[in-house]
Amino acid sequence: MSGSAGGAAIVEGLFERRGVRVEVRDLVKIYRRGRLEVQALRGVTASFEPGTITSVMGPSGSGKTTLLNLIGGVDRPTGGSILFGDQRLEVLSDEELDRHRLLNVGFIFQSINLVPSLTARENVELPMILAGLPAGERAGRALQLLRAVGLEDRADHYPEELSGGEQQRVAIAVALANDPPVILADEPTAELDYEAARGVVDLLAHLARGVGKTVVVTTHDPRVAVRTDRIVRLEDGRIIGEYTPLELEAHPQPLGGGESHSLAELVRARIAALEAEIERVEEAAMRGEIPLRRAARRIVELEESIRALKELLSSMGG
Ligand SMILES: Nc1ncnc2c1ncn2[C@@H]1O[C@H](COP(=O)(O)OP(=O)(O)OP(=O)(O)O)[C@@H](O)[C@H]1O
Ligand SMILES: [Mg+2]
Repeated sequence: MSGSAGGAAIVEGLFERRGVRVEVRDLVKIYRRGRLEVQALRGVTASFEPGTITSVMGPSGSGKTTLLNLIGGVDRPTGGSILFGDQRLEVLSDEELDRHRLLNVGFIFQSINLVPSLTARENVELPMILAGLPAGERAGRALQLLRAVGLEDRADHYPEELSGGEQQRVAIAVALANDPPVILADEPTAELDYEAARGVVDLLAHLARGVGKTVVVTTHDPRVAVRTDRIVRLEDGRIIGEYTPLELEAHPQPLGGGESHSLAELVRARIAALEAEIERVEEAAMRGEIPLRRAARRIVELEESIRALKELLSSMGG
C-alpha cells in the first residue's frame, strides 16, 4: 500500500464544501413485494453532524443499508422526513433528487464499483463529466484527489492492477469528485484485510475531522467502529443505542490498552446480539413465521459469525 491514508494530503482548494447536518426524523421504510411487507425501518430519528464520522452497526437485515440509501436519496422513505442541510429531500422531484445525489452525496460501497476498463484517474473524472465540469479542470482535479487518498502514483493504473485497499481508496476519490458535503460508505471495509480496512476508515475519519465533511459508515467490524466518533446501533429497524467508543470503556486504561479494552467490549456486545438473534430466529421459526430451511440457514450463518468473533476475542486475550 503506497502512502499512509491517515497522512493523506489536504490539497489547497480541493475541498471547498464543508459538511452539512443531516437529520432524519421518524423514518419508516416498508418494502412491499406482492402481499409481503418488510418493515426495514420502524421510526428512526438521528442526526449526523459535519466534521464527525458516525458508524452504524447492527445485525444483517437491521436496516443499515436502507438508512444510508434514504439519506443519500437513492430511495424514498415510506414515512418520516430527511433534512439534508436546509433541504428537505421529500419535496424534491425524482429529477431533482438525482441531481442532489450527484452533487451532494459521495457513495462508497462494499463491492468496489470502479469501471474496470477505465484507469483510476478516468474513474475519478466520471462523476465530474456527469456534473458538467469543463474538461480542462477534470484531469487536474482527479490527480489532486488521487493525491489526497495517497495514490497519485497510481493514476494510470487500471482497477485490477491495484490492491483491494487501493481500489477502495480510488473509490473514495471517485466519491469526492464533486466535493459533496456528505460521504456515505456502506460496509466499505467488508472485503478488505485489517490493515487495508484501517487505511480506509482512517481516510474517511480524516475527511470528517480534518476536512469537515459529514461521514456515515456502516460496518460489522468493531475494529472499524472504534475508529469513528460515534456508534449508532440499529436492530430490527430501530436505533437501540448510541455511544462513543470511549463510553464503552468501563475501566479506562491508559495508553494503547484502552483501545483493545473497548474493542473487547464491542466484540462481546456483538456476540451477545448475535446470540439473541439466534433465539429470535428460532422462536420465529417455531411460530411458523419463517420457513424452517431459511431459519436453519440463518442460524448457521450467525453461528459462524459468533465463532469468528470468539476467535478474535481469544486472540485479543479476552
Ligand atoms: N429492495 C428490497 N425489497 C424488499 N426487502 C428489502 C429490500 N431491501 C432490503 N429489504 C429488507 O429490509 C430489511 C433491511 O435490509 P437492509 O439491507 O437495510 O439491512 P442491512 O442492515 O444493511 O443488512 P446487511 O448487514 O446484511 O447488509 C431486510 O429484512 C431486507 O431483507
Ligand atoms: Mg447492508
